[in-house]
Amino acid sequence: MNTHVIAVGNQKGGVGKTTNTVHIARALAERGHKCLIIDLDMNHGATRHFGVEPEAFLGSFEMLAGEEPAENLILSHADKEEGVILPENLDLIPAARKLEGIDQAVMAKSKFMTPHEVLKKPLDSLRGKYDFIFLDTAPNATLPTLAAYMNADYFVLSAMPDPFAIAGLNDAMRDIMDARSRGNTKLVLLGVVISGVDKRTSLANALSEFVENSFRAGENAESVKFKSSIGRSTVIPQTQKVGRTLFETHSTHKVTDEYRALAAEIEARLAKIHAGSVAIEEQRGVVNG
Ligand SMILES: Nc1ncnc2c1ncn2[C@@H]1O[C@H](COP(=O)(O)OP(=O)(O)O)[C@@H](O)[C@H]1O
Ligand SMILES: [Mg+2]
Repeated sequence: MNTHVIAVGNQKGGVGKTTNTVHIARALAERGHKCLIIDLDMNHGATRHFGVEPEAFLGSFEMLAGEEPAENLILSHADKEEGVILPENLDLIPAARKLEGIDQAVMAKSKFMTPHEVLKKPLDSLRGKYDFIFLDTAPNATLPTLAAYMNADYFVLSAMPDPFAIAGLNDAMRDIMDARSRGNTKLVLLGVVISGVDKRTSLANALSEFVENSFRAGENAESVKFKSSIGRSTVIPQTQKVGRTLFETHSTHKVTDEYRALAAEIEARLAKIHAGSVAIEEQRGVVNG
């Protein structure tokens, strides 16, 4: 099994990273792919999204600190433990608040541990067991976030229409380039997802146009903006409140279908990349803005 490790990020908070991670993975799971989400945020949004009590289980802290093998930390559909109701094909390594102390915990083991090293071994042990491993990152440059940048194969950028979205995307793109030049040379920007879109607002249209035109490899190349964007809807906070995904609570909703379309697009884009028809090298010059 060829495992795609996808980091979902943007150093801005509240731009849909967690919601997108959870729903893209859930949509891919529905398409029969075996998926794992590793929650790397001390605010444990992805963990809560699945109704999992963050302090009840060992998770990404123990994984990054090297205290437990990653396989021992996986929660899955098959688990009958209390509070765990994960969808089929979708596993989770949860996060807990103690992740805020991970830098010190790792430093205590070795002052010379790099962000690459802390996640490399756990990911290597999981490669081959999943079609997709998603890394949900925190909106700050802490060790788990840096580790995600330094180990991912692909990056999905999350953006929401707001006055600072464009500046945020440029910063995020710089981080991706930096991770590449610092050693993760394989890192590919798979695409930009725009979510929380209200088509009636000019802000959404301006962001969409900017991403469409600025994030492309060459003048005639395809934009890395995903064609499927995700609309703004109150069903999202509703489903998060009950610790489920839209696929469980609103299976036929428009936004659920938008995530289905996005997952199909991701599948197609990966197939194209593997067929060699997308010039990855060209992505180095992808941002003009
Ligand atoms: N499509 C959407 N429509 C409405 N609200 C959304 C949508 N996507 C996310 N949200 C809300 O926006 C907030 C931030 O989303 P979240 O995924 O937690 O962002 P991040 O992980 O980047 O901090 C959450 O309260 C979430 O419920
Ligand atoms: Mg989040």
